[in-house]
Amino acid sequence: MLELQPTADGSFTFFSTEFSQSFHSSSGAKEEAIGKFAIPTQLADRALTYPKINIFDPCYGLGYNCAAALQAIWSANPQCPVEIMALEINPEVATAAIEQQLLADWPAPIPALLAELAATGKVQSNLLTAQLQIGDARQTIKTLQGFQADAIFLDPFSPAVCPELWTVEFLQLVANCCAPQGLLATYSCAGAVRSALLLAGFAVGDTSPIGRKAPGSIASLDPDLIPPLSTDIQGYLQTRAGIPYRDPDLIDTADRIRLRRTWEQQESNLESTSQWRKRHPNSLADPALPVDK
Ligand SMILES: C[S@@+](CC[C@H](N)C(=O)[O-])C[C@H]1O[C@@H](n2cnc3c(N)ncnc32)[C@H](O)[C@@H]1O
Repeated sequence: MLELQPTADGSFTFFSTEFSQSFHSSSGAKEEAIGKFAIPTQLADRALTYPKINIFDPCYGLGYNCAAALQAIWSANPQCPVEIMALEINPEVATAAIEQQLLADWPAPIPALLAELAATGKVQSNLLTAQLQIGDARQTIKTLQGFQADAIFLDPFSPAVCPELWTVEFLQLVANCCAPQGLLATYSCAGAVRSALLLAGFAVGDTSPIGRKAPGSIASLDPDLIPPLSTDIQGYLQTRAGIPYRDPDLIDTADRIRLRRTWEQQESNLESTSQWRKRHPNSLADPALPVDK
């Protein structure tokens, strides 16, 4: 079930009773879409020089990240063509967001275009080509062969409740959809997430913290585009917190994926994260904090 929830910047989100989690940070849903996704992927700058921008949004949800992306791109260059490939397991989220007019205050023509996407699963207009595929992203992503994204929004529910979309194997498929200079943004700085991104071939850096102390992550297949992580954070990733989630056949349940990681942590010779915390009591590399997404 989807429960409507206000956030601190005045925009609304949903709370998912299935995942016991909000779709956005309580500090601001709109702020999160802009600050954690549209700005770090440098869409406004790229709109000035790219002939067309390709976006991959594997957890489309209410569509806020795509709305923020379109706003950033068309504010900078109103003539920039955009292609969006979006995936989502629950079609009710996007349609409920439109029904409740949650996208209504983004500038025109964004609300109308995203309403069409939610209703029909596709848009073909002069500046926007978009597809919203319904199903488990671990399977639907396989239909995207050849798509090369300039921006990727990695925005599942948190790793603890939705590990399926944070595994090494899923992120390897995401990497296949990333252009050589594409940028992937995520709100998470969890060790398991950053290790999985690194194993999938991405270079990983910090984004500026938005609405909380911990940063998000920015990633690219081109390491020259990413400021390196501090040695402190690199050390954190070498603890058991840096052991990633795995889903070898991309079909396991969340419970099984969590259990597999717990077993791997128990068998590991890596330093325990609690010991590491004692040595680094104030480190922001430690994302034990963000329960709130
Ligand atoms: C945090 S919300 C995303 C919010 C969204 N990015 C936005 O801007 O509104 C996570 C989304 O992932 C979807 N989801 C969960 N498991 C999924 C799966 N296996 N495949 C695709 N989508 C999934 C949920 O239904 C939810 O809409």
